Amino acid sequence: MAFELPPLPYAKSSFGDLISEETFNYHHGKHHNAYVSKTNAAIAGTDHEKKTLSEIIVEADGGLFNNAAQVWNHSFYWLCLSPERKDMPAELKSRLEAAFGSIDEFKTQFKAEATGHFASGWAWLVMDGDDLKITSYHDADSPVAHGVKPLLTLDVWEHAYYLDYQNARPDYVSALLDNAIDWEFVALNLDGKGISRADQG
Ligand code: FE2
Repeated sequence: MAFELPPLPYAKSSFGDLISEETFNYHHGKHHNAYVSKTNAAIAGTDHEKKTLSEIIVEADGGLFNNAAQVWNHSFYWLCLSPERKDMPAELKSRLEAAFGSIDEFKTQFKAEATGHFASGWAWLVMDGDDLKITSYHDADSPVAHGVKPLLTLDVWEHAYYLDYQNARPDYVSALLDNAIDWEFVALNLDGKGISRADQG
């Protein structure tokens, strides 16, 4: 079964200056869509057609891994964002405070990871066993391939921010982390079902 580009869970114009409609047109409509098309082309006529994205990511390498992981990472990323300011649910807040000392310190460390990641990739908050950790992966790599549970991600490929922030990745990271995260979605992923939320098939 072919994968489909998932619709955005909000209007492309709803983030104002934080993320422009033009960025969504390219990032979702062109980049994410291309990863879907290339994944479908690679799995056509193979056993992978019957599998979920996360099953393919675990089994594949090379071009199929890169495209399937980029489909999954982007689907998860859109779900992490919200044009409405959302309060952090109490359980998530207490888990972050226990792991990082305070919410401010969590944000400081997440921004440092996302800003400092060299070249293309993704910054993540993951759950490794029972521990919350901040990490990043290069290029298309994904927590799906590493046995850790994804809670939150920010795309730090230039295509995620260049139209709105040019080369100022720190401004993009700070703007989104402080103003555009769906903390309710992040909290839902504490139950360990985060991988399936962006899965298809
Ligand atoms: Fe991206």
